[in-house]
Amino acid sequence: MNVLGIESSCDETGVALVRMQGDAVPVLRAHALYSQIQMHQAYGGVVPELASRDHIRRVLPLTRQVLAEAEATLADVDVVAYTRGPGLAGALLVGAGVACALAAALDRPVLGVHHLEGHLLSPFLSADAPTFPFVALLVSGGHTQLMRVEAVGRYELLGETIDDAAGEAFDKSAKLMGLGYPGGPALSRLAATGRADAFALPRPLLHSGNLDFSFAGLKTAVLTQHRRLGAEPTAEQIADLAASTQAAIVEVLVKKSLAAMRATGLTRLVVSGGVGANSELRRQLNAAAQRRGLRVHYPELDLCTDNGAMIAMAAAMRLQSGAAEASKDYAFDVRPRWPLS
Ligand code: KG4
Ligand code: ZN
Repeated sequence: MNVLGIESSCDETGVALVRMQGDAVPVLRAHALYSQIQMHQAYGGVVPELASRDHIRRVLPLTRQVLAEAEATLADVDVVAYTRGPGLAGALLVGAGVACALAAALDRPVLGVHHLEGHLLSPFLSADAPTFPFVALLVSGGHTQLMRVEAVGRYELLGETIDDAAGEAFDKSAKLMGLGYPGGPALSRLAATGRADAFALPRPLLHSGNLDFSFAGLKTAVLTQHRRLGAEPTAEQIADLAASTQAAIVEVLVKKSLAAMRATGLTRLVVSGGVGANSELRRQLNAAAQRRGLRVHYPELDLCTDNGAMIAMAAAMRLQSGAAEASKDYAFDVRPRWPLS
């Protein structure tokens, strides 16, 4: 059975085809992605209306590309899955509308998928797939959550950010350092050349005794340090500030993840979402896991940020586990705000 997945919740159009066979972990046949980053860069952030219009332009060419790469045709598509939320309403409507129209034309069922469930299950697309149960650290541009995952569809929220997400902390810090949008990857590249102990930045809620996060104060501290550097800071100073910012974010993410492992007694950690691509986060989590006899799983680097493969995969795993059923009801809605647990 083949599941076509369409992702359009923000500034990436992603399409993928996943094959489901019995109880085996579903397999990715092909995926294609178009990132709108360049278009939004001029504005310093995502412009929702431009995002929606661009999804319209990209989604069908990407679908053709995926089918060609998988050496399949539309007739081979058994279920059409799409991101139902959370995300930008207009952008979500494009993916949902196209998915439901396509499914109606093919007389196939549709399934709306939660974007965060896509991220959460994306490590199952990697060669080193995890097994249930595990603790999930979900770190994207809009979310920072620790979850206990028993099985597909059984998610218990252990802690989350009370203000900004980790990706937002990367992006906002990068923006005020003049590193453009999205700043996470740029800040992390620069951080590799700087000193992580150059600036004393806060580790918000590190000793709060719970598994919640807070990153808004960190951004303000970065702003204050940046102002102290004067009108024309040196490249070295900016690299040091980038390294110090990354160190603060990563330390909180690592320590809270380890605290979640202790609290649950579980031995597997699954990291997902855009910030999961951060090499310093991976380095520190791997080192800590090795010391404690824990296993850490990540999505493949190119599947950390938004993509269609994770949506097709989440749909396939929901269908396979019986957590959801696809239906031929083509009257769709989207859910811009939608809690996962
Ligand atoms: O999961 P994602 O693609 O989109 C959302 O669903 O939000 O995550 C995007 C976020 C952005 O904040 C981006 O700056 C961050 O992930 N990001 C990174 C890295 N790559 C992407 N942050 C730190 N280091 C990276 N290497
Ligand atoms: Zn995402």
